[in-house]
Amino acid sequence: MAFSKIELRNFRCFDSLLIDLSSSSSLFYGKNGCGKTSILESIYVASSGRSFRTSNLESLIKKGAETFIIKAYDDNSGAILEVNKAKNKPISIKINNSKVTISELVRAFPSFSIDSKTFFYNDNAPEYRRKQLDRGLFIASVNYSKDWFGYFRSLKQRNSALKLGDLTQAKAYDPILIKHGENLNNLRENLVQEVKVIYDDLVKKLVVENERAAIFYDIDIYLKPGFDNKIGFETCLKNSNTVDLKRKITTVGPHKADVIFESKGLLIKDIFSRGEQKLLSILWSLSQNIYLGRSFNLSPILLLDDLSSELDSEMLECFLPILKYIENRFIFSNIVDLFGSKIMGNKQSFKKFHVEQLN
Ligand SMILES: Nc1ncnc2c1ncn2[C@@H]1O[C@H](COP(=O)(O)OP(=O)(O)OP(=O)(O)O)[C@@H](O)[C@H]1O
Ligand SMILES: [Mg+2]
Repeated sequence: MAFSKIELRNFRCFDSLLIDLSSSSSLFYGKNGCGKTSILESIYVASSGRSFRTSNLESLIKKGAETFIIKAYDDNSGAILEVNKAKNKPISIKINNSKVTISELVRAFPSFSIDSKTFFYNDNAPEYRRKQLDRGLFIASVNYSKDWFGYFRSLKQRNSALKLGDLTQAKAYDPILIKHGENLNNLRENLVQEVKVIYDDLVKKLVVENERAAIFYDIDIYLKPGFDNKIGFETCLKNSNTVDLKRKITTVGPHKADVIFESKGLLIKDIFSRGEQKLLSILWSLSQNIYLGRSFNLSPILLLDDLSSELDSEMLECFLPILKYIENRFIFSNIVDLFGSKIMGNKQSFKKFHVEQLN
């Protein structure tokens, strides 16, 4: 499901606001502090119970108010979602008036954000890329979440035994760790490979429209599984027993995985400029969004805050044709309305909002 409308009460700078989100693409533009990020954030909170910016949900309640309320409507299914956060109380989420958990919410209304952290995807620690990968799979596949929980539960137990120096006890968790770990790894690997196919296809289309996009071609993107794939997880785990016991922690496995971006053997983060890195991250996130939509019968909303920061006008020109190929709802913000007429003229519907005039 995806929202057609969202209504805010006492959310950050907004007293009350009703926004129509039914277009395929929506652009929110306006000057610093007008509320662009807040609107995108409200959509993310409504679809995940979390913010992409802060872990303190209370800070999202408008100053002087007691509670924020977000209501979202899906005109297709008729579903109504209500997210409520009062001071000193946990967040409350209801779909059609029935309480739901965060896992149920993220599966009912999936959304992914491309924000200032995602822009420099390659500069972040491996944990960040793992989380991005896992969040997609978690939403898409219930089986994946079972393997994920199964793996991390047994990893925790194995590590506790290692801390006590009890290798026999630690090894008792290996069969379950291996079973879930191999499943995790296969699903992750499959996702990276499938997303790469979509990414290559997008870049090919971009290059036809703008030669500058050629730098995004010929990039190797692959999963580093966290163990030597040629030997396999089981053998790697066995081979690392002595080291694990010495370090009191499990040193190999999918909890050490990473997604690697390379060009001719060099890490992208070491060679790409900031603008290039940002556009690459956007293209990768977009490809993942398309993959999840196509393969798991989802309609994941894609949120992109501050499109043009760090991008020069040529790089922006490079990106714009991509809007034609986005398959799910795309909601993005920018300081100025740079592109209105340029992204019209395709079959997708597009709507612009001047945020300063909304409040
Ligand atoms: N809890 C709150 N209560 C009242 N106002 C708030 C609250 N939280 C944030 N604000 C204010 O809301 C305004 C909008 O912030 P927001 O981050 O959405 O702006 P923006 O349009 O994204 O700006 P920029 O272009 O600088 O990124 C800011 O002036 C901010 O100080
Ligand atoms: Mg902002």
